[in-house]
Amino acid sequence: TPPERIRNFCIIAHIDHGKSTLADRMLQLTGVVEDRTMRAQYLDRMDIERERGITIKAQNVRLPWSHEGTEHVLHLIDTPGHVDFTYEVSRALEACEGAILLVDAAQGIEAQTLANLYLALDKDLHIIPVLNKIDLPAAEPDKYAAELANIIGCEPGDVLRVSAKTGEGVRELLDQVVTQVPPPEGDSDAASRALIFDSVYDTYRGVVTYIRVVDGRITPRERIKMMSTGATHELLEVGIISPEPKPCKGLGVGEVGYLITGVKDVRQSKVGDTITAQHHGAAEPLAGYREPVPMVFSGLYPMDGSDYPDLRDALDKLQLNDAALSYEPETSVALGFGFRCGFLGLLHLEITRARLEREFGLELISTAPNVVYEVFLEDGTELLVTNPSDWPTGAKIAEVREPVSKVTVIAPSEFIGAIMELCQSKRGQLLGMDYLSEDRVELRYQLPLGEIIFDFFDGLKSRTRGYASLDYEESGDQAADLVKVDILLQGEPVDAFSAIVHKDAAYTYGNKMATRLRELIPRQQFEVPIQAAIGSRIIARETIRAIRKDVLAKCYGGDISRKRKLLEKQKEGKKRMKTVGRVEVPQEAFVAALSTG
Ligand code: GTP
Repeated sequence: TPPERIRNFCIIAHIDHGKSTLADRMLQLTGVVEDRTMRAQYLDRMDIERERGITIKAQNVRLPWSHEGTEHVLHLIDTPGHVDFTYEVSRALEACEGAILLVDAAQGIEAQTLANLYLALDKDLHIIPVLNKIDLPAAEPDKYAAELANIIGCEPGDVLRVSAKTGEGVRELLDQVVTQVPPPEGDSDAASRALIFDSVYDTYRGVVTYIRVVDGRITPRERIKMMSTGATHELLEVGIISPEPKPCKGLGVGEVGYLITGVKDVRQSKVGDTITAQHHGAAEPLAGYREPVPMVFSGLYPMDGSDYPDLRDALDKLQLNDAALSYEPETSVALGFGFRCGFLGLLHLEITRARLEREFGLELISTAPNVVYEVFLEDGTELLVTNPSDWPTGAKIAEVREPVSKVTVIAPSEFIGAIMELCQSKRGQLLGMDYLSEDRVELRYQLPLGEIIFDFFDGLKSRTRGYASLDYEESGDQAADLVKVDILLQGEPVDAFSAIVHKDAAYTYGNKMATRLRELIPRQQFEVPIQAAIGSRIIARETIRAIRKDVLAKCYGGDISRKRKLLEKQKEGKKRMKTVGRVEVPQEAFVAALSTG
């Protein structure tokens, strides 16, 4: 297809504003999916995506569309909507010339609408503003058209109105994509260059890499080179998606499709990398490739210790499809053998955990998430701490630096006070505030990432009755007064509960964990002190009193079979007991203490 008849576009939207539903309608209207095989959210292939109704991996599809008698090819690049996947969104945007900015006509602009809009403007994409869900009785299209027009600087009349549910307005929207979005530009005679904007692992075919050709042509059987690593591969297959993969004879300037090289690991086919021909390839890669950097770390442990090898296999498999997931073995006194895992953010953690449980049938415990701290010692050593257990003890700390984020919160203005209070309690600094309309406001804060991943989102939701939306992006680091709080049982530290917290929050954390453990750990034959400590300084203490001797009397007497049963039961119970010093603690107690937020 000649570039002048190609249009590459994406849909950007806040979560739940109807992106996938709109994509479904487009598949149907262009005849790519027949009505009888249509199923909701066709492009969201992963079960977990379907269930949670969120898009995790970008998918793309080729749509034929006839406009004023000329056949066009529209490539719809589906992008993930969530903050954790900003890098994937920005790569997907790189593959487009235009973006449909989709906004729920009953909700208006939300935090991720803005975040994605700014990314799109950054890439100079043509923006088509669209209000969705106009069929809803609660829709206020006039109000939100004004809001949208105000933000992107167009006339309210330029804002299209559709219902992805009923299909109303979607035909006109596809026509507007043809007339408004510029066709791709590129040099068909130049050395080939293609951008990888997604790669997924397929059990049968290995890694499937999604590309957008910028210059030249990519053809099957040629040898290609990954420009970030210099690795070379033979192209076993090149094809388009419409909506199932179909092999083709090659992809030219502006075209979007997939390729297969037989590699088994998505880390060899990196999102953001440039592909060129091995011989007479391009000299310069396309702009900006970035390694995914894990921002949030948590320990993952199998509930049943004998599942450890299964957990390792499952993580190996997930990593084939998720270049951003990192992990290494770790052991914990309280929880046994597990893995220290690195994630892009909290949602990434949650999704990974859910997939491990769902797809691999594992029952897991995760420790409280933490961020990466840079610790400078007085003797000049510098440490990167991703795990509270790596916090230096003994050595004198000169400075600790923690990652900070720029946070955008959008909410009805009646909640301004509550939001400010929350942000201040999390060491936030107000950067600015703007009214989107009379009764809705955008607040911008700088907040430590460590505070955001802890329970910020829950706090925000409960203080705003669910009306606030949140987005954040990393913005460097700052010096902070942080300490490590240990929780001790009879003087022995319980590693899974150690946390790095701000000095002012240490007492609260220590007290909360000590109280919780006192309630959860059964009484023993001796008194068990529970302490919270910073180094050798005790900051909180609770005591589990000793059990009274006569309770044990129950174990004597009675018939022999009952006794044996009792013993068996005890043995069963023993397996799940973790011993900390002399104290036996049912694993359930640890799990409960970790899971109550
Ligand atoms: P993510 O993929 O998670 O970012 O969400 P999304 O933006 O793709 O939203 P999705 O298409 O899953 O739609 C969210 C909800 O809104 C679903 O329950 C849809 O059925 C509903 N919905 C989408 N479009 C319309 C519409 O035009 N009218 C009405 N009434 N409901 C809609």
